[in-house]
Amino acid sequence: KENYDHILVERCFPENSDVVGGGVGVITLHRPKALNALCDALFEDLIHAARVLDEDDDIGCIVITGSGKAFAAGADISEMSKREFANAYKTNMFSQWADITKMSKPIIAAVNGFALGGGCELAMMCDIILAGSKAQFGQPEINLGVIPGAGGTQRLVRAIGKSKAMEMVLTGNRINAQEAMDAGLVSRVIDSELLLEEAVKMGYGIAEKGGVAVRMCKEAVNAAEEMTLSEGLRFERRMFHSLFATRDQKEGMSAFLEKRKPNFTNE
Ligand code: CAA
Repeated sequence: KENYDHILVERCFPENSDVVGGGVGVITLHRPKALNALCDALFEDLIHAARVLDEDDDIGCIVITGSGKAFAAGADISEMSKREFANAYKTNMFSQWADITKMSKPIIAAVNGFALGGGCELAMMCDIILAGSKAQFGQPEINLGVIPGAGGTQRLVRAIGKSKAMEMVLTGNRINAQEAMDAGLVSRVIDSELLLEEAVKMGYGIAEKGGVAVRMCKEAVNAAEEMTLSEGLRFERRMFHSLFATRDQKEGMSAFLEKRKPNFTNE
């Protein structure tokens, strides 16, 4: 499936490059009339497209972005307004969103405009958040009589600490790109006009590395949020050891010693 109703998918490749798996898959949330509100159908499209790109050997990194005005203004409030407790509970509403975190390739969220509620939570499910200068982050669910339901009370605390996270979820107030940067929620603030270009460029930089090591970096860094330090260090070391079974390790280290660029084959 390549034609989606609520997203656009593009495969980008660096010019004059023969890097194996060097492409970047760009998913653009595209429901402009509702500021990319994350209705069920949009999220189904998003997860489908992410899976296809995750399995595509030509692609080494994924970028998720929105439009200038909104990355995503949250879960779809008109869809949600009709839900009842029993149905929400029995269907485990929003649990399927976490499938985004199961992708093995790195995902960069390029956030321009509003990333609110589920939009902020989606960004936090990605591996790197780049903020356009006009980005705004917030968890305004409290204004709707609910609380964040897709990680906003958990991932936000880990990202920016308890006091700032508590303030955001209790007041519903938004923070801008620079505040998000100062708090450690995003890794960089980039001029809005250049955001997507820079995100794709960063994606190319990641995609040209060895694909097995890239996936292991992602797995190990994400494990740091789940494990104790000693478990995490052991996990990291075992993964490090296992990379000596890859061709890319031989190639990477030989290339360094021979003073040439490595030709990684992701094996
Ligand atoms: N769901 C459904 N529709 C939404 C929406 C949402 N989350 N956010 C915006 N829209 C729709 C608006 O209803 C409006 O539609 P119409 O033109 O048909 O009236 C359209 O998008 C444009 O929005 P506004 O006119 O409100 O635009 P604005 O520039 O005045 O304000 C905004 C922008 C501040 C983002 C405002 O739209 C807003 O506050 N949106 C809701 C944000 C929110 O509460 N998000 C949390 C949702 S709950 C959640 O996400 C739960 C969870 O944890 C998973």
